[in-house]
Amino acid sequence: MQDLKNAPIGIFDSGIGGLTVAKAVIDALPTEDIIYFGDTARVPYGIKSEETVRAYALQITNFLLKRGVKMILIACNTVSASAKEEIIQAAGDIPVLDVITAGTHTAIGLANHHNIGVIGTLGTVNSRAYVEAIHAHDPTITVKQEACPLLVPLAEEGWIDNDVAVKTLHHYLDGFKGSGIQSLILGCTHYPLFKEIIPSILNGEGVEIIDSAESIATSAREKLGELSLLNDTGGEFQCFVSDRPQRFHELAERFLGRRLNGVEVVVLD
Ligand code: DGL
Repeated sequence: MQDLKNAPIGIFDSGIGGLTVAKAVIDALPTEDIIYFGDTARVPYGIKSEETVRAYALQITNFLLKRGVKMILIACNTVSASAKEEIIQAAGDIPVLDVITAGTHTAIGLANHHNIGVIGTLGTVNSRAYVEAIHAHDPTITVKQEACPLLVPLAEEGWIDNDVAVKTLHHYLDGFKGSGIQSLILGCTHYPLFKEIIPSILNGEGVEIIDSAESIATSAREKLGELSLLNDTGGEFQCFVSDRPQRFHELAERFLGRRLNGVEVVVLD
């Protein structure tokens, strides 16, 4: 068991979005080793078919398993919506947590919230994964969804607060104004990068913004505790991508607020 305890946590996404999860995990579990994989050669996932996303996700899962991870965090809503069951099956005894379960858990935990907004990729919105997960807890909750396909390329480009980002956010979010939503789930891990400006776009309507990163980090800590797999001697962060490591390196250091030893390119089999 000692070996598994010291093994890293695997986190993955199509690109930099999952770093919002990695950051929350580093904050919640600073002495855990982490392996992060961003599929920069194939981002975005949100406009691709479920079959394609599933195939990509299983390749990444195998990569992480070969690296000996003790837990997998699906830091991508699109993957959570279309490939969660297949990943759980491929991972065997290794626990798998996903951002949709985490985000839903936070949303339904908010007292008296009966009107919830969800923004996500086309894949996530079309899958209705959030609607079903929320209704499994309470079918009377109203869920209003909006797909925001342009936000992922903007985030990958680092355009998170310029005038293009503001206009694009208005385009997608103005429809929520006056809709009575009490909370808005950021149903794509790239979207927390816009977290600073989203409240101003919604014009101070008092909408609670839900980012599943903190919630999945808390679940990871609880699960590792339950399994007696918490590591108190690690803290290393290793980063792998499928393309353009330099670009990722710069964005990741800026976003995580820490120096990274390097970002390695891997070819998945
Ligand atoms: N960040 C991912 C998500 O949470 C995927 C975005 C994309 O690649 O389209 O859905």
